[in-house]
Amino acid sequence: MARILITSALPYINGIKHLGNLAGSMLPADAYARFQRARGHDTLYICATDEHGTPAELAAAAAGQDVATYCEEQHVLQHDVGRAFGLSWDHFGRSSSPQNHRLTQHFAEVLEAQGLIEERVDQMVYSIDDRRFLPDRYIEGTCPHCGFEKARGDQCDNCGNLLDPTDLKDPYSVISGSRNLEVRDTKHLYLLQTKMADRIRAWVDGHPDWPTLAKSIAYKHLDEGLIDRGITRDLAWGVPVTKDGLPRPGMEEKVFYVWFDAPIEYIAATQEWAEAAPDRDWRSWWRTDAGADDVRYVQFMGKDNVAFHTVSFPATILGSEEPWKSVDMLKAFNWLNWYGGKFSTSNKRGVFMDAALDILPPDLWRWYLTSNSPEGSDTAFTWEQFASAVNRDLADVLGNFVNRILKFNESKFDGLVPEGGEPGPLEEKLYADVAARLADLSEQMDAIEIRKSAQALRALWVVGNEYLQEAAPWTAIKTDRDRAAVIVRTALNLAALYARISAPFIPFAAEKIGEAFAQAWPPAWPTADVAAELSTVPAGQAVRAPEVLFKKIDDDMIAEWAARFGGAE
Ligand code: MF3
Ligand code: ZN
Repeated sequence: MARILITSALPYINGIKHLGNLAGSMLPADAYARFQRARGHDTLYICATDEHGTPAELAAAAAGQDVATYCEEQHVLQHDVGRAFGLSWDHFGRSSSPQNHRLTQHFAEVLEAQGLIEERVDQMVYSIDDRRFLPDRYIEGTCPHCGFEKARGDQCDNCGNLLDPTDLKDPYSVISGSRNLEVRDTKHLYLLQTKMADRIRAWVDGHPDWPTLAKSIAYKHLDEGLIDRGITRDLAWGVPVTKDGLPRPGMEEKVFYVWFDAPIEYIAATQEWAEAAPDRDWRSWWRTDAGADDVRYVQFMGKDNVAFHTVSFPATILGSEEPWKSVDMLKAFNWLNWYGGKFSTSNKRGVFMDAALDILPPDLWRWYLTSNSPEGSDTAFTWEQFASAVNRDLADVLGNFVNRILKFNESKFDGLVPEGGEPGPLEEKLYADVAARLADLSEQMDAIEIRKSAQALRALWVVGNEYLQEAAPWTAIKTDRDRAAVIVRTALNLAALYARISAPFIPFAAEKIGEAFAQAWPPAWPTADVAAELSTVPAGQAVRAPEVLFKKIDDDMIAEWAARFGGAE
């Protein structure tokens, strides 16, 4: 039994996530975790809300709430909608936890002791009326490139140019609207990544098996040259900056930068998990001096997060010189777009997780988002593609097979798995087909090839339909009841097998099918002995057809949703 640690990028706290976020981190991580658990591996899947930084403060302000209350509420919403999607986190933590505060401060102090953190004086915009420094997103003004009047301090949303707050013309405070601003000196902590460049490169070199997307982003940053990075901000909400466990003199009003503390929460969330029950040991997952050398650590994330996980976070943990576990496999995803453009949280463009579940069950989304995973390149959501994945794969192939054989068994064999007969050449051929495709599916899942895994799974469903078509129990029953019994028994067993192997992708429907066959749940992944796997549901057992597994999507529904959620225009 192997030990597998899985994390997916921590979703920002500022509102329920859209399907693009789900497709590019949490959902594939969940499918992979379910697969590894089914294979009997000791699997720990950790995620959390990323609660600090200006986006959290601004979203709270927009909601008219204090930021702590806002985060508490939003955390519950994200947790609940994630669970409703079947995300099987072992723990869904919060980066604002006391554990993360402690661990973040610990890392900063250790890095400073290693000579990797230094205080520098920066020039920052100060708002005299607000009596505070204004971080990037708290300043808006006119874009020097395109003249857009509401450009943010870090970027112009109109022309896309990256900006420095001091570039803005006629800047004003987002908090008060005041234009009474000046540039002042202020101290910040810098992480000296320049000193770490060789070590980080050597560490990345040690992972030639990462997918190209992850490697190319890592090397791009290394080749451009690392820069020392400010890791503190002038905000009230976040992890306070300390020295020797006390507020750091001169930095009492500052907190760590959100990208410094967020990845540390992977570890802190594991501490949160461990503290919730007596028999759990977080160290054995994260400390190589406490058993974590045996752990295979896999991270899932969108491509915009790769630099932070291949450069910044490694700088933190390698720089500490402490025996922390670092990532073994980094699985990165491209974008799932909404038609031609981007999903947008701020502009409410596209379907969000809660709205998705308002209109359809989670498995339909899960299947579309995994079988069209934005793995090799960016992909675009369209209602037509979505309907085709649901109707053609789930309803016509899997649903049809399960429904057909269970109904036939009810009408001809009283819903009891029929006895009699011996498997013949068609069954032998079926075993071989299933064995080959099952091996492919297991291999693709192991390799975290999400699309190819979904294809392999679909191919397995197709095999069942072909078998039924060829074996034609409806003909056999007229002349040779034993032969019909073999076919029905085999096909019923195949349906039960589908429940087990489909569970990582469509856990809810899989469980429904599993219930029809009284399968142990959660299921174990089948062995390569397919003949044995296809006789686990014994003759004589009562099986009952589940209610309709997958309702089809029709043109009227598409038209309604296209109007409601926008689309092609
Ligand atoms: N909240 C970030 C995002 O959505 C991801 C944080 S990942 C972590 O882009 F490593 F910082 F945790
Ligand atoms: Zn602009």
